[in-house]
Amino acid sequence: MPVAGIGLGCDYNPEQWSPDVWREDVRLMRQAGVDLVAINIFGWSYLEPRPNEYDFDGLDRIVELLHEHNIKINLGTGTSSPPPWLTTMHPEILPTAPDGTKRYPGGRQAWCPSSPVFRRRALALVERVARRYGKHPAVVLWHVSNELGCHNAHCYDEETAEAFRRWLRKRYGSIDGLNDGWGTSFWSQRYGDWSEVQPPRQALSARNPGQILDFHRFSSDELLDYYRDEVEVLRRHSTVPITTNFMVTAHIRNLDYWTWAPEVDVVANDHYLDHRLDEPTAELAFAADLTRGLAGGRPWMLMEQSVSAVSWQPHNLAKAPGEMIRNSLTHVARGADSVCFFQWRASAQGAEKFHSALVPHAGTDTEAWRAVLRLSETLDRLDEVAGTTVDTDVALLFSWQSWWSCDGESRPSHAVRYLDQVHLAYNALREIGVTTDVVAPAADLSRYRLVIVPCLHLVSDQEAAAIDAYVAAGGHVLVTFYSGIVDQDDRVRLGGYPGAFRDLLGVRVEEFAPLPPDAEVTLDNGAKGRLWTERLCTTTAEPVARYVDGPLPGVPAVTRNAYGAGAAWYVATELRAGALRDVVREASRMAGVRPLGPEGDGSVEVVRRGDASRSYVFVVNHGNRDVEYAVTGLELVTGAAVDGLLRVPSGEVRVVREESI
Ligand code: GLA
Repeated sequence: MPVAGIGLGCDYNPEQWSPDVWREDVRLMRQAGVDLVAINIFGWSYLEPRPNEYDFDGLDRIVELLHEHNIKINLGTGTSSPPPWLTTMHPEILPTAPDGTKRYPGGRQAWCPSSPVFRRRALALVERVARRYGKHPAVVLWHVSNELGCHNAHCYDEETAEAFRRWLRKRYGSIDGLNDGWGTSFWSQRYGDWSEVQPPRQALSARNPGQILDFHRFSSDELLDYYRDEVEVLRRHSTVPITTNFMVTAHIRNLDYWTWAPEVDVVANDHYLDHRLDEPTAELAFAADLTRGLAGGRPWMLMEQSVSAVSWQPHNLAKAPGEMIRNSLTHVARGADSVCFFQWRASAQGAEKFHSALVPHAGTDTEAWRAVLRLSETLDRLDEVAGTTVDTDVALLFSWQSWWSCDGESRPSHAVRYLDQVHLAYNALREIGVTTDVVAPAADLSRYRLVIVPCLHLVSDQEAAAIDAYVAAGGHVLVTFYSGIVDQDDRVRLGGYPGAFRDLLGVRVEEFAPLPPDAEVTLDNGAKGRLWTERLCTTTAEPVARYVDGPLPGVPAVTRNAYGAGAAWYVATELRAGALRDVVREASRMAGVRPLGPEGDGSVEVVRRGDASRSYVFVVNHGNRDVEYAVTGLELVTGAAVDGLLRVPSGEVRVVREESI
């Protein structure tokens, strides 16, 4: 971690302000206890105002000013948005949309990831920045570009087509291999030569799903390759840790972060509450747990969040009093060892001028600023938690590749969306008070009592075998519908669904029978299902519940199979929230999982962080009633001793260092 304890940080864009504001800024940063400041994220047009003419005066002054005030620097390489002279000189670097039209500059990230000109120019800037600041004592972290792939992950120009072909040659070896992988016998798509192969540009009908899936994989790899190139330059001049900010979030799914995570020195995530979702706070907890999964269970950085409203959703809700602090501490409970924000001072101009900031437009005589001071004090009191890890024996499998494949163009039901299904399963665990790790399908599962496999549509042979072996050896799994359907090439696994998990689950499905979006089915235990049913026969499984109406009365909807030394549950419909919770609770109970939190609507979250010698219980109360929790120790936020019963007021968070473990 770049700073000791639980760090407080922010993005800082001094280019937008005059030097007298900079002096005021560092004074206030000191007052707020800011430990780490990310600068030069969008610095390119400032540092290289004309081709090959560099001007580091401003950045030098900022670096020195921060250093004098003992504030550490998370130094951006400055390459996230090309300056106007570059896109004017080389319009070929601009991204191309699926319909072949160019996207112009005027926003940000207007560059094609496969553009050699962009890469050469960007790396030249990185070289200068790294050489100049690589050994500066204030620089403790490198911040490569910014949110790589946020807007420009998929480019459809000829340079990308060439790069895509090179990537495909490596993957398939021969054009016949590609034809086989993509199933090009369908609709007369057979290729005779690599030059015929294109990115999946806009077409008149549904496009080839294998081609689309590979284009997702390629695009993620292409940006990772770009990241590696920047890292290589930085490494020549600096030994400081290097990272880039991930976007583990509900609305962006462009990069397969399981392949990225091993390449960053510190996992860092940007997270914003998304009020387009039904349960934004539950999604925050999920994203934090997934980010911890990317960090291999180790502490990670919350690189960006907002003090209050963002400016890029249709309705940008301000945070309620206490919400910012509560959400920050939810990230800490789930493994974050730093809490950083976008951005320090609210911009007066530019596309994000209505985005909240630590210093709002109204200045420091504001509730937002006072909340920042309170957060800072609280984080200081939690410093001793840093370095500990989250304690749980339940895992949920998550896969970007499954997401890409599941949400394809032609599928049984467009109302079945991967992330919704993942969130439903996650929320059921959260509501019964169970903390879960979120891990890759290929992860080592041996230490878990229960593994949830929601809608894992695409699963490789190897991943399926690992899940099988885990259960055979005594593990418990709960699989939800539309899992195990296709292999790594998006090819349907034949012989009956859910192909990869048929034996494990002891069921065989002849046909999917999705429901219209507003229909419901009833099960014989009174539960309701929606969106999905399937013509299922048990082979070795026991039916747990059957449909009493809908298209398949009498057919099992929930099953349980004894398998080797373990057990495998299957849920073949989208159980309405309470009913899914009932099944997850029963599966947890039978697996020997002991929930830490209370059962409810998820508004009270209890998470334990610790190590061999320490244990901290976080109780987060998002609800509007005070709650009590049985624990003994020293409460760190208020400094009060707790003897048996902790009281957590509505909207607050308490953290108890437990007595002797
Ligand atoms: C992202 C970006 C920032 C800013 C914020 C606004 O996280 O990295 O530059 O645009 O979103 O929410």
